[in-house]
Amino acid sequence: MSIRILGTGSYLPETIVTNDDLAKVMDTSDEWIASRTGIRARHISVDDTTSGMAVKAAKEALKESGVAPEELDCIFLATLSGDRATPNGACDVQKAIGARNAVCMDLNAACSGFVYALTTAVAYAKAALAKKMLVIGVETLSKVVDWSDRSSCVLFGDGAGCAVVEADDSREVFIDYGSNGELGEALTCGERKLNNLLVENHEPLEQVFMDGQEVYRFAVKTVPRTIENVLEKAGVSKDEIKYYVLHQANKRIIDSAAKRLKLDIEKFPMNLDRCSNTSSASVPILLDEINKKGLLERGDKIVMCGFGGGLTWGTIYLEW
Ligand code: ACO
Repeated sequence: MSIRILGTGSYLPETIVTNDDLAKVMDTSDEWIASRTGIRARHISVDDTTSGMAVKAAKEALKESGVAPEELDCIFLATLSGDRATPNGACDVQKAIGARNAVCMDLNAACSGFVYALTTAVAYAKAALAKKMLVIGVETLSKVVDWSDRSSCVLFGDGAGCAVVEADDSREVFIDYGSNGELGEALTCGERKLNNLLVENHEPLEQVFMDGQEVYRFAVKTVPRTIENVLEKAGVSKDEIKYYVLHQANKRIIDSAAKRLKLDIEKFPMNLDRCSNTSSASVPILLDEINKKGLLERGDKIVMCGFGGGLTWGTIYLEW
């Protein structure tokens, strides 16, 4: 048993903040940010919530797929920047769209979140636990970045992406994924310190901390390797893949993966110049963009790859 993607959706907050806008409020420049990352602008929420963006992406994906909310068996929502610890974001989406038969849960695997959530959907399909599912990646990173740290805050943005998937045994799906907690301190966010009747602590939650060079080294080593692993499992040559939809962290990481795999960069669509790094939302936002442009035909082979905090990585091969 495998899955088929029936429809996609995405949502980006209306307000766009360019590198030049950032340079007006901090010591940075468009040249510094763009030359190191490929990022030129990001969408920043002024009044959108994490769940609210997820709902907008979900409605669009449901509309395209022709699936009614009551038909959904599960909603898997990947985020590290949810509005509340409980109810989870997936339950917020359930309420807003009327998916009263769905089992709803959030997952957190940072930038690998959407691929992990899709992997969970595959596992539920294989176990006959669910047929139709909503898989969402959504982040409001603007509320968790440290705006006084110019080396990290310029990298991130807000947005949501979503796919409606259905169990389908006519298609193949292969997964390669992993985690390395040993390297976890390279990218951290939101530490919750003890605060109870024995320990008094009024420090705010910690914001994003990143050792950029450590994360870079991890990404350029891990991404080509996990892609090669998934292709080997699938028994498919790298040229047969129409698109490699990679997490949009940094253009240099994507260029390096294409080079190591000896593939044309045209196979690696990018939108990070406009959207920046939206963590778990970046893969589904980009997937929706490709789909909406009509670039995917049924049967096309695609690879999606997420990597980041944890440290985590996940790659999925599937047939459109
Ligand atoms: N504007 C101008 N100057 C800056 C800025 C900025 N926004 N940020 C840092 N600098 C300065 C530093 O202060 C430093 O100055 P100094 O030499 O006088 O001390 C200089 O630029 C170099 O700083 P580094 O941190 O060494 O910059 P580096 O070349 O490593 O680039 C970057 C930083 C872009 C983050 C890089 O490490 C990288 O691409 N890392 C990959 C990690 C990544 O993409 N993370 C995204 C989140 S994780 C994920 O999604 C997988």
